[in-house]
Amino acid sequence: MRYALIGCGRISPNHIEAAKNNKLDIVAICDIVTDNMEDKAIKHNLPGSVRQYTDYKEMLAIERPELVAVCTESGKHAAIALDCIDSGCNVIIEKPIALSLKDADEIIKKANEKGVKVCANHQNRFNKSIQKIREARDKRRFGKLMYGTAHIRWNRGWEYYSRAKWRGTWEQDGGALMNQCIHNIDLLRWMMGWEVDEVFAYTDKLNHDYIEAEDLGIAVIKFKNGAYGIIEGTTDVYPRNLEETLYMFGTKGTVKAGGSSVNLIEEWRFADELDDPEVIKKQFGENPPNVYGFGHTPLYADVIDAINNDRQPYVTAEDGRRALEMVLAIYKSAAEGKPVKLPLEDCSTLDFKGRFDGKI
Ligand SMILES: NC(=O)c1ccc[n+]([C@@H]2O[C@H](COP(=O)([O-])OP(=O)(O)OC[C@H]3O[C@@H](n4cnc5c(N)ncnc54)[C@H](O)[C@@H]3O)[C@@H](O)[C@H]2O)c1
Repeated sequence: MRYALIGCGRISPNHIEAAKNNKLDIVAICDIVTDNMEDKAIKHNLPGSVRQYTDYKEMLAIERPELVAVCTESGKHAAIALDCIDSGCNVIIEKPIALSLKDADEIIKKANEKGVKVCANHQNRFNKSIQKIREARDKRRFGKLMYGTAHIRWNRGWEYYSRAKWRGTWEQDGGALMNQCIHNIDLLRWMMGWEVDEVFAYTDKLNHDYIEAEDLGIAVIKFKNGAYGIIEGTTDVYPRNLEETLYMFGTKGTVKAGGSSVNLIEEWRFADELDDPEVIKKQFGENPPNVYGFGHTPLYADVIDAINNDRQPYVTAEDGRRALEMVLAIYKSAAEGKPVKLPLEDCSTLDFKGRFDGKI
């Protein structure tokens, strides 16, 4: 399958390796900064036959890839993905799939019209730990799910933000919730029940005077099925990443996924006692070298299979929209100081421009 990558920055190594692991035919890589492309080509031993482009439209027209990954800054995802879809190409879009619901809707609509597959890159769904928890959920081992919590307690400092000026801006990124926490927000919504009634939240900027958006978000979620959720996301933790956790509490089961990015199972208690918690913790825990984990390779395998068998990917564009909607609802609730009902029709990170200006 002919594959191309757009955006050769920090997350691109995971995509290149996932493409290689899945034996995709990497025909081209593209970046407006030539050095970034060359750097990745060398580090990942890409053969000379992999062409390099600075203009993705030219690349699409000449190379006609069947699958493209969009790994540019978040504010550019929608426009680039729409051009890829227009050219008849299947797309993996890094998270968040877009920064406005209007753009996300356009991606979904166009992909349907063109008959191409779009996957939102929420790779943590493929963590061994998360797959095991999902299996228990699908087998109804939790009994009635009462509530779940998603915590991301990480550290991002000057060095991280200064390396790419788009980070932390309303136009191209958003803050701790939109960038770092969105994977866990996706997991919470996916696990606890898609339908959300309302969201109430606080967001603030407490310790990063050089970014525009929030570095702390705290939200309470009321699901339509009667369950509750709590979200806490921050990049303020001193002095380094502490944890990313997902707790699920049911009448007959309690589970905690933990570690730096929900890759460990730290609690596994079920009334049915079908398995030995210590064995499960050992078998389904992973220790990846960084917080991006091992999920890109299985995510790619799923997308390739979805294309070959004309089915929807495991993580769809609609799923990407749901995670985006949750973050935007949190932003809206915090800005308005009141609960926000879902579904949200339209909302964008740009609606919150200036919110924390002069805050620190
Ligand atoms: N899935 C994950 O766990 C994960 C982790 C980190 C980042 N991300 C997401 O991946 C995206 C990229 O993040 P990053 O940290 O790698 O950013 P980055 O700034 O390191 O890389 C972005 C790259 O895109 C290039 N680019 C910009 N405009 C372009 C264009 N028009 N055509 C081609 N290339 C272009 C830039 O020159 C840069 O090299 C973001 O949306 C981010 O949220 C996801």
